[in-house]
Amino acid sequence: MCGIIGAVANRNIVPILVDGLKRLEYRGYDSAGLVVIDQHDQLQRLRRMGKVQELADGLVATPLNGHTGIAHTRWATHGAPSERNAHPHISGDLAIVHNGIIENYVALRSQLQTKGYEFTSDTDTEVIVHLIHSYWKNNDLLAAVQGAIKELQGAFALAIIVKHYPQRIIGVRQGSPLIIGIGKNEHFLTSDHLALLSVTQQFIFLEEGDLVDLTPEKLMIYDCDGKKIMRPIKTSDLAQEQATKGDYQHFMLKEIFEQAVASAQTLEGRLAGNHVLISAFGTKAEVLFPKIKHVQIVACGTSYHAGLVARYWLEQYAQISCQVEIASEFRYRDNVVQPDTLFLTLSQSGETADTLAALRKAKEQNYLSTLTICNKPESSLIRESELSLLTRAGPEMGVASTKAFTTQLTALLLFTACLAQVHGQDATTLITALRAIPEQIKTVLQLDPDIKKMATHFSRFRDTLFLGRGVEYPIALEAALKLKEISYIHAEAYPAGELKHGPLALVDENMPVIVIVPNDHLVEKLLSNVQEVNARGGRLFLFADQSINVVAEKNIHIIKVPTVNAIIAPIIYNIPLQLFAYHVAVLLGNDVDQPRNLAKSVTVE
Ligand code: G6P
Repeated sequence: MCGIIGAVANRNIVPILVDGLKRLEYRGYDSAGLVVIDQHDQLQRLRRMGKVQELADGLVATPLNGHTGIAHTRWATHGAPSERNAHPHISGDLAIVHNGIIENYVALRSQLQTKGYEFTSDTDTEVIVHLIHSYWKNNDLLAAVQGAIKELQGAFALAIIVKHYPQRIIGVRQGSPLIIGIGKNEHFLTSDHLALLSVTQQFIFLEEGDLVDLTPEKLMIYDCDGKKIMRPIKTSDLAQEQATKGDYQHFMLKEIFEQAVASAQTLEGRLAGNHVLISAFGTKAEVLFPKIKHVQIVACGTSYHAGLVARYWLEQYAQISCQVEIASEFRYRDNVVQPDTLFLTLSQSGETADTLAALRKAKEQNYLSTLTICNKPESSLIRESELSLLTRAGPEMGVASTKAFTTQLTALLLFTACLAQVHGQDATTLITALRAIPEQIKTVLQLDPDIKKMATHFSRFRDTLFLGRGVEYPIALEAALKLKEISYIHAEAYPAGELKHGPLALVDENMPVIVIVPNDHLVEKLLSNVQEVNARGGRLFLFADQSINVVAEKNIHIIKVPTVNAIIAPIIYNIPLQLFAYHVAVLLGNDVDQPRNLAKSVTVE
């Protein structure tokens, strides 16, 4: 949540900051701002309510120019979205931007008010800038920042400038990501290195507790004990175009259509003949995997739904028992750890605050090991887990997750096959199914025009129910989440067998029911549920295997899905449902890539 970018260079850095903010906008987009040190060594700030484009338009009317500056795009936590709450915040000659939450801000605020500091915003961030200011003596910026951050409780990444040092930025990483970009005689700071690909491919991913002092020519990193330290420089192989929309109208549609390639990338180099290469999960996997008797999965949002699918797979195909829990619940619950349990986190970003906190809790407990399946190579979850598997979905910019989910599922099926193999079962059918994923995705994407047409019959509704059985139940949950996120239509998902235990009471001509109907061992039972809705005058929207004998009528709309291997059916059925949510949201005129109130990377609780 919230995106930070900073630059210290020997050229005007305002265009770099604005371009970077646009690329960070997925982290929050309710207001944006920047501050630069101008040629007279004065702080010049501009903030705007709304998206980064508002700020860019503001800069046309009020051009700013400077060689050093920091900028921010906000997802509001403390204080409503407004210009006065937008970052950067200023105290005297100091300015900061902040990503995260300061938990003890109320106490600090009243202490600072007693000292005479006046607050002009409702944010927790303003506490930080006044606190640093209160420590600012003898022009020693480093000491002021080091002193102030000792008093802060919570999670934060900060970038700080002061007009006395017109060519200097200080950054702090403590709970929220912060990355240094290295240019030629220029340095940058960012929450996500994607934001800087237009200026550099060289990055340093700061560790927890690091503080960095940047000038155009020099960079100095201090660890959490204040000791000077060097961190490795990594070269990104991501091309700038990977984070652009290309010919697509929205990132979400582009990312849906990238899923065949993305899932192939997830599998690349991880299968050999009819074997999963166990080392793909980390060097210690060979020793640890044979010991696994139980898997505890923890995740949030869409990643949690991927975990729910994995539970069906692990228990059915690898005979490994599995529990799945939402991270924000797991982290605060007294849980019992079964012997030989692998703790598995799932995450696109690798920075979700609750998932990270759950992992840290698990590391204090008696788990066999920790594994993360994650899309971001340098993320906190990857760094803090003993074992890891990258999903390799590439940058996902749409706030509603699509290809990240599909690649998580692909990775989880790979994991299931690996455990089946390690525990002496024949994984050949699983591996055959895995290899079929990319082609099956390509086939199902061809349904797009039919789905677009079906969306026109649906978009007038304000509420809906999704039904699925077995492994399609989590897919129904994910489809309902996707629809509500981007169309703002109220959607709930139920296991179809639960229909008669309550939700059936809601069914009438204004409560359509969307049903996922693969041709599996539960199809007859599911078709009975469909009849229960039909008999009560409900509107049905079916995503059904083409071989099933259901006929479209006035109240029954059907997307006929090509027959698919039952093992990978949840992966394949999810894709037409993504397209459905997308087309409904477009018909309603919504901002598909940046839906209201949401953000992609949730680095606060
Ligand atoms: C946010 C995003 C979701 C995502 C969830 C978990 O809510 O909007 O798309 O599923 O966070 O994020 P993670 O990065 O841990 O998968």
